[in-house]
Amino acid sequence: MTLKTIYEKQPEVFKFSDKNLKIAEDILKKYPQDRKKSAVMPLLYLAQKQNENWIPLSAMKYIAKYLSIPYIKVYEVATFYSMYNLSPVGKYLVQVCTTSPCLIRGADKLLKVCKEKISTNEKELSENKKCSWMEVECLGACVNAPMIQVNEDYYEDLDEKNTREIIESLLKDKPLKPGSYRGRKNTSPENIQNFNGKINYDQNRR
Ligand code: FES
Repeated sequence: MTLKTIYEKQPEVFKFSDKNLKIAEDILKKYPQDRKKSAVMPLLYLAQKQNENWIPLSAMKYIAKYLSIPYIKVYEVATFYSMYNLSPVGKYLVQVCTTSPCLIRGADKLLKVCKEKISTNEKELSENKKCSWMEVECLGACVNAPMIQVNEDYYEDLDEKNTREIIESLLKDKPLKPGSYRGRKNTSPENIQNFNGKINYDQNRR
C-alpha cells in the first residue's frame, strides 16, 4: 500500500455530515461566485478528516458534484498533493522527518520506534489500525529536531524514549500533548531562567 495508491476496497457512498456540510458552505463563502471550484482543496481536506484521514473515490465524485466541476478535476488535485491520502492511514498518521538536521539529531532512532511499535514497513497500518507511519522530507521545524508530525500536530525535540511513549499513547487512542519534549517554548533556547540580562542555556546540550 502507498498513500497515493487508490485503495481497492472503496466505499460506495460518501456525503458530508450535517456539521461538515455547514463548514463546506462557510468555505464556499470565501470564494467569488464564479470561482467556487477553487474550494476543491479545502473540501478534499474536509472529506479526508471526516473519513478517518483518507479520501475515497466516492468523496471525490461527491465534491465534483458539489462544486459542479468534472470528477477528473477533483481526482487530479487529490492525486497530486501529498497532503491527501488515498488509502487508509489510521486515525493517527505519523510523519517522521529524516532530512539532514533531524537525521543528525537522531531521527533514525525515531524510525526504529515506529518500525517496532507501529509496523515494520512504512505506510502500513498498525495491528489495531490506529496508526501508520511514513518518512518525509523537512517539515520546517529543523530548529526543534528531531521531530514528528502526527496529523496536524508537531512533536519536537524528541528522543527514543519519549517517541516510544508518544507512539504508545497514539496506539491507545489517548494522544500525549504535542510540542517540545525538552521543555522549550516554541523555538526559544532551553532552560532560560529569566530575561534580566542573564540567559542560562543548557550547557550539556550539543
Ligand atoms: S530537517 Fe526535520 S524539520 Fe527540517
